[in-house]
Amino acid sequence: MSLKISGRGQIDPFIVMDVMREANVLDAAGEDIVHLEVGQPGTSAPARVRDAAIAALNADRLGYTDALGIPALRERLATHYSDFYGVSVDPARIVITTGSSGAFLLAFLAAFDVGDRVALAAPGYPAYRNILTALGIEPVIVETRLEDRFQPTPELLARVEGRLDGLIVASPSNPTGTMIGAAEMAGLTGYCRENDIRFVSDEIYHGITYGHDSLTALEHDPEAVIINSFSKYFSMTGWRLGWMIVPPEMTRSIECLAQNLFISPPTLSQHAAMAAFDSQEELQSNIARYARNRDILLAELPRAGFDRLAPADGAFYIYADVGHMTNDSAEFCRRMLTEAQVAATPGLDFDPYRGNTYVRFSFAGSEDDMTRAVERLRRWRK
Ligand SMILES: Cc1ncc(COP(=O)(O)O)c(C=O)c1O
Repeated sequence: MSLKISGRGQIDPFIVMDVMREANVLDAAGEDIVHLEVGQPGTSAPARVRDAAIAALNADRLGYTDALGIPALRERLATHYSDFYGVSVDPARIVITTGSSGAFLLAFLAAFDVGDRVALAAPGYPAYRNILTALGIEPVIVETRLEDRFQPTPELLARVEGRLDGLIVASPSNPTGTMIGAAEMAGLTGYCRENDIRFVSDEIYHGITYGHDSLTALEHDPEAVIINSFSKYFSMTGWRLGWMIVPPEMTRSIECLAQNLFISPPTLSQHAAMAAFDSQEELQSNIARYARNRDILLAELPRAGFDRLAPADGAFYIYADVGHMTNDSAEFCRRMLTEAQVAATPGLDFDPYRGNTYVRFSFAGSEDDMTRAVERLRRWRK
């Protein structure tokens, strides 16, 4: 008997999850690992969110919801867009999803056909290319440059051979934390509209910025698909809740896809998330901690030899060029873990071409984690 296994599942692993597993094994064996690999807030959901979850648990049947999400949350998000960006959005265009990860699946299925070609930046978040590949959509990797803040530009897109059907951008980006300015965003969205390229904007790190405003691509392109999540700014990773804003002509197909793929997004999380918007004080104190952590790493990493750092405008990552220390970032991170007890992510996760000479440090943890990590790295590199 030879039963078939589909080639669509033969995609790259998400390496950071493998690093996390190795670090957790060492932790369980009694080693004291400092975790700079994890891309999630070190904090739990805001207190009001947790209270709202308890209230919903006691008061609500918690059955399925509308496939597009509970109307109250979609309306609350529309208010968030007018409060935060000054942009008016019809709640009918807002879709609640199972994390932004669920949103990618729905958006890619609704926007692209098998064989379509979608551009994305390297370095970039690996799941974009892996989900596209699994869906039979061709990821077209655009190698970005430090002088462009590791973001795609019309000039880089114009150099791509063959047609493009879509472009995915993330600002702030994972792993570099770099952002796209207003003028650059206007240029990119303009280029995409002229060339019939669907613009997909991953805005998951909005709100986590250091002296920069988060700008939604919606202001430049009403046809853009906007993807966001409660995982990062709202500190609700495990609640698996995200959202997207889609053009009106796409809502019905997204609704049908969501009904069939997920039935509905997590009900308890949707009720709890209503309180996320009333938790600004707590959320802002998280941002203040990230800012202090970022200052510690930017000041201290160079003293441990990590002195080629991407300008982290937002998110909670520093992408370090370690080309003067190694040309095998996976082996380098393995040694960093076992010899210095510091876990970090090899750049290969984010850039299949140049990632062998880069490492990503996450500063989403505690201030104490940052101080201990840089001390250990300094001793290790002495
Ligand atoms: C750029 C980016 N987009 C999307 C996600 C997925 O987030 P979630 O599915 O929890 O919303 C992540 C997670 O690290 C990310 O870094």
